[in-house]
Amino acid sequence: MDRLVITGGRRLIGQVSVQGAKNAALPAFAASLLTDKPVLLHRIPAISDVTTMTAMITALGKRVEVLGEGTVRIENGDSLQREAPYELVRRMRASFFVIGPLLARLGEAIVPLPGGCTIGSRPVDLHLQGLQRMGAEIEERQGIIHATAQRLQGRSIYLNYPSVGATENLIMAATLAVEETSIRNPAKEPEVLDLIAMLQKMGAQIELCDQEIRVTGVRELTGVEHEIIPDRIEAGTYLLAGGITRGTVEVKGAIANHLTALISKLQEAGVKLQIKDESITAFSEGCSEAVNIVTMPYPGFPTDLQAPMAAFLTLARGTSMINETVFERRFAYVVELVRLGADIQTIGQRINITGVKRLHGTKVRTPDIRAGAALVLAGLAADGETEIEDASQIDRGYTDIVNKLAALGAQIERREEVCR
Ligand code: UD1
Repeated sequence: MDRLVITGGRRLIGQVSVQGAKNAALPAFAASLLTDKPVLLHRIPAISDVTTMTAMITALGKRVEVLGEGTVRIENGDSLQREAPYELVRRMRASFFVIGPLLARLGEAIVPLPGGCTIGSRPVDLHLQGLQRMGAEIEERQGIIHATAQRLQGRSIYLNYPSVGATENLIMAATLAVEETSIRNPAKEPEVLDLIAMLQKMGAQIELCDQEIRVTGVRELTGVEHEIIPDRIEAGTYLLAGGITRGTVEVKGAIANHLTALISKLQEAGVKLQIKDESITAFSEGCSEAVNIVTMPYPGFPTDLQAPMAAFLTLARGTSMINETVFERRFAYVVELVRLGADIQTIGQRINITGVKRLHGTKVRTPDIRAGAALVLAGLAADGETEIEDASQIDRGYTDIVNKLAALGAQIERREEVCR
């Protein structure tokens, strides 16, 4: 297993470019199942979750060819398969995105219940209830979902929670359904809007209204060429790297409109930001101030930046409070930050972080992608050497993090664990 080894204490200075958004790229792969025609995707991040999704759609009958850095062409290979392999779904929750497209195309889908990050129970009830509303018969047998529908029927669906995955799955299913589907209380994350933009180019009839997303089904979708939006979570992570190391980091490709909550909180904490059309630069010289955060669906503070923000706040003056409302178990990293010298108390779904003068490097282990990013940030600021085990978790969501940070002046390397 890989480890990252960081010798902290260096100010990061320079420019870094963001990858395409992981959470937009994964549903885009699933959306390719909705057509027989070629799909050309640009700005696909080189992360292991994309490798898993590539294996998934290949197993389902697509042929995926990498044409150059960040560009992939997806074409028909064998005939479309209805059964998603357990081995792949187990690795990544986003694999469940294939159920909507498969059901819409084939009238049948067999998809195991998903795995992914260990950040709470993460059920898929909203995905399944929505598909049932559209006329699908759903059965669960030994952890495997069997869904069938002659042809999905457009309906009005109210989501009890604006789930990103359920909104995306239901939009994809509805593109080929009979008549109109209206999804009320939908997620409106930039990644959802990116999927909608791609589907519209494929001929899908989708209208984005204030409180709902309306999809009028069509008989078939065409091929498409689409560029994935930049990754706001990766961008936010590098802005925080500038902040925590009291450096100057320009994040190229960061879109300020997608990062309003983080930008406000960084400014409140005393980090200076220069915002341009093509980039955001974070400058920080002195000690930051404590701030309070509540994670929320977009445009609220993103749960995926909760752990990186917590790392940043470990060195801020005063006590910050973070309230996690999206996932119920997303503080598994706290114990690791405490090992690095952070002062954090967990009270149910909330943590109180009292800023300390210094963090001290030690051995830690990352429980998930964003927790891994938080530990990297803490390691960059800590005295001495921090070793992060299970670095492959971080590779699920961050392209080339070692070289990107090293180019900013960080002392960071990857070491293979030697088996004895
Ligand atoms: C997506 C993102 C993930 C991000 C999350 C919230 C991808 C691949 N992943 O995950 O990085 O952290 O959005 O912004 O896009 N829920 C239910 N029933 C359901 C579905 C969800 O109760 O059927 C709950 C979940 O348990 C969770 C909350 O709703 O508590 C949010 O989940 P959701 O928005 O669906 O997140 P994901 O799509 O899994």
